[in-house]
Amino acid sequence: MKLYETVRHADAPTHHTPADVTFAGVDLRYPTGTLALSEVDLELSRGEFVAVLGASGCGKSTLLRLAAGLEAPTAGTVAVGPESTGVIFQSPTLLPWRSVRANVELSARLRGVGRAERRARVEAAIEAVGLTEFAAGLPGELSGGMRMRVSLARALALRPELMLLDEPFGALDDLTRLRMQEELLRLHTAHGFTALFVTHSVSEAVFLASRIVVMSPRPGRIVRIVDNPAAHPRTPGFRHEPGFHERVREVGTALNGVS
Ligand SMILES: Nc1ncnc2c1ncn2[C@@H]1O[C@H](COP(=O)(O)OP(=O)(O)OP(=O)(O)O)[C@@H](O)[C@H]1O
Ligand SMILES: [Mg+2]
Repeated sequence: MKLYETVRHADAPTHHTPADVTFAGVDLRYPTGTLALSEVDLELSRGEFVAVLGASGCGKSTLLRLAAGLEAPTAGTVAVGPESTGVIFQSPTLLPWRSVRANVELSARLRGVGRAERRARVEAAIEAVGLTEFAAGLPGELSGGMRMRVSLARALALRPELMLLDEPFGALDDLTRLRMQEELLRLHTAHGFTALFVTHSVSEAVFLASRIVVMSPRPGRIVRIVDNPAAHPRTPGFRHEPGFHERVREVGTALNGVS
C-alpha cells in the first residue's frame, strides 16, 4: 500500500545529500493507549527545510519529540545523524531572572562548551538575531517577538546541525511573524542547518520550506508531501509570486482533503 503521495514538479531539486533524519515505519503509542503516529516514513536531507502541517492533535509535536530523542518509537526506527540539535518550543521558556545573554549562554554551558568558545558563540548568536543592545536586559523587558529571537539565539549558540521548531511563531502578530520567517530563512542560509518546522499556517510553510508534509488527523500519518522547489534564499517578494500562491492552494487542498 502506498502510504503517501509525493508530488514532484519538473524543476524540483533532487535530494542527493545524505539523510540527517530518517523515520522508517514509525508508530508512537503513548502509555495512555493513544496512538499518536502511525506508519510514518520520512527522510530529511542535510540542510533541507521541511515543514509539517496537520490538524491539532495529529502528532506533529510527537514527531519533533521523536527527532529530539525525547520519545522512542513503539514501532519502526528513528535515526538522527547530527550530534547537535537545537529545539525551539512554542513558548520561549526563558528564565526570567537571567539576562538575555545568560539565557542564551545556558544551554551551551550545559552542553559543556568551554568558556571562551561559549562567550564568542553567544555574542555571535545574539548579534545574528539583532539583540545586541538588549543583551544585558531581562526577558521581561522584551516584546514577544524579541523573546522568540532570544530562544532562536539560544538554539543557534549550540551551532546545531539540526533545528527542530514547534510552532515557534504561533503567538506573534502577523507583521512580526513575517519578519521572523525572513530572519529564520536568513539564519538557515548562513548556518546551513537541517530544519523540521511545525506550523498551522499554510503560507508560513510555503514561504519557508522546500518540502511540506501534510498529516492526517490522529493517528497522524503522512498523507502527502508537496515539493516547493523555489530556490533559497527566498526574499519577501516570494510571497507575491504566482508559484507561491499555486503552492498555497495545493497544500490547502491537500489539508482540506484529510480534515
Ligand atoms: N505525553 C503524552 N501522553 C499521552 N498522550 C499524549 C502525550 N502527548 C501527546 N499525547 C496525545 O497524542 C496526540 C498527538 O499529540 P501532539 O502533541 O503530538 O499533537 P500536535 O499535532 O502537536 O497538536 P497541536 O497542533 O495541538 O500542537 C494527541 O491526541 C495527544 O493527546
Ligand atoms: Mg503540538
